[in-house]
Amino acid sequence: MPNRKTSEAERELVDTARRVLPAGGFGNVPHEVVIAGGRAGRVWDVSGNEYVDYLLGSGPMLIGHAHPEVLAVTQEQLAKGTTFFANNEHGIRLAAEIVDAVACAEKVRFVSSGSEADLYAMRLARAYKKRDKILKFEGGYHGMSDYGLMSLSPRRSSNFPRPIPDSAGIPKSLQDEVLVAPFNDLETVASLVREHRQELAAIIVEPVQRLIPPKPGFLEGLRKLTSENGLLLIFDEVVTGFRFAYGGAQEYFGVVPDICTLGKAIGGGFPLAAIAGRADIMAHFDKGAVAEDEFMMQVGTLSGNPVAAVAGLKTLEILKRPGAYATIFATGRALMEGFETILQTAGVKARVVGDAPMFDLVFGDRPVNDYRSALGDADAMKRLNGLLRERGILKGEGKYYVSLAHTAEDVRFTLDAFASATKAFVGT
Ligand SMILES: Cc1ncc(COP(=O)(O)O)c(C=O)c1O
Repeated sequence: MPNRKTSEAERELVDTARRVLPAGGFGNVPHEVVIAGGRAGRVWDVSGNEYVDYLLGSGPMLIGHAHPEVLAVTQEQLAKGTTFFANNEHGIRLAAEIVDAVACAEKVRFVSSGSEADLYAMRLARAYKKRDKILKFEGGYHGMSDYGLMSLSPRRSSNFPRPIPDSAGIPKSLQDEVLVAPFNDLETVASLVREHRQELAAIIVEPVQRLIPPKPGFLEGLRKLTSENGLLLIFDEVVTGFRFAYGGAQEYFGVVPDICTLGKAIGGGFPLAAIAGRADIMAHFDKGAVAEDEFMMQVGTLSGNPVAAVAGLKTLEILKRPGAYATIFATGRALMEGFETILQTAGVKARVVGDAPMFDLVFGDRPVNDYRSALGDADAMKRLNGLLRERGILKGEGKYYVSLAHTAEDVRFTLDAFASATKAFVGT
């Protein structure tokens, strides 16, 4: 079944990339594939190999690639000019749609990436509470800022709540400003909050941490703890926003934070992200609404970019149509159930972890509740992903993202490829 071919043109591009890009790539996905284009749930590379695409641009392409309606509105805007810095209609209407859809959103501030949104959300909490410390969860991803890159993927375990920086170049002093707790462990969070309540500004959490669903009561518990102790609760909804439900994870789980961050889907495949939250907190972005020393300076050249905003608006309009989420969930469930059956039949010890819009395997057989229990066999994962890629399945190293555009034929193709890859995996 493996049939991936590499053309001379792709080989040349990969060599050039190795010469001019650190590690030969833009980021953290395998660099041997150079994507040439995509439509709906599929992409193809420079050599002409086609893939069912579960990478989805790391999540933004929730309605599929090159959606004709998104293309039409973006092309119309492209001809009218691509960025103005000043307010534009599409950005204003997108903010209004977010306020309508997302429970915590009374005001919206646009930025260009999820990393920025998280960095400002944490700064906003610190400005509002006039305290410096943030509590995050081990393995929680909140972008690439100094605060965000604490105990995202620590290679060694440290004692909670001491964070481990994931990157060189982060000031040592920052380790004193971040507390780390295990995801899904309300007791540990409660004791840290009790001990540090005078210094803590906020708890930031991915409502579904990477793939790990919250235990029943966990998010509710965080809401209660933060409210009772005068802390803010930040939901990082860069991934979950408009993906688990139109109103995001806060609608799906019925827990409303004080602030949330949004990204990926709201830009329709263009660089756009947002901080959204309660009006009294968001007031810190408004010089006229707070004292001089409480004002939070924040500008960005491309913030609210009209091309990104109109692509995002059309994406949301399509997601809002009847049946969209039912379709995404049905596709995801069919894949998850199919994978489980194939793994069981082949006797592979791995769990399918996550929920229909995003999931993956974790090798091993113990329950997955937090970062440490989600650390499966990374080499096995890499090997299986490689076998899948050879069989026409593209995905991130640790996630399948499902789109509205994936068809029954895509699911059938994927399950065949998965069965073949699993057979080869067991044979190796
Ligand atoms: C939960 C979460 N927060 C923040 C980010 C950062 O977003 P961006 O890559 O747009 O900077 C990501 C990116 O994958 C994410 O998954």
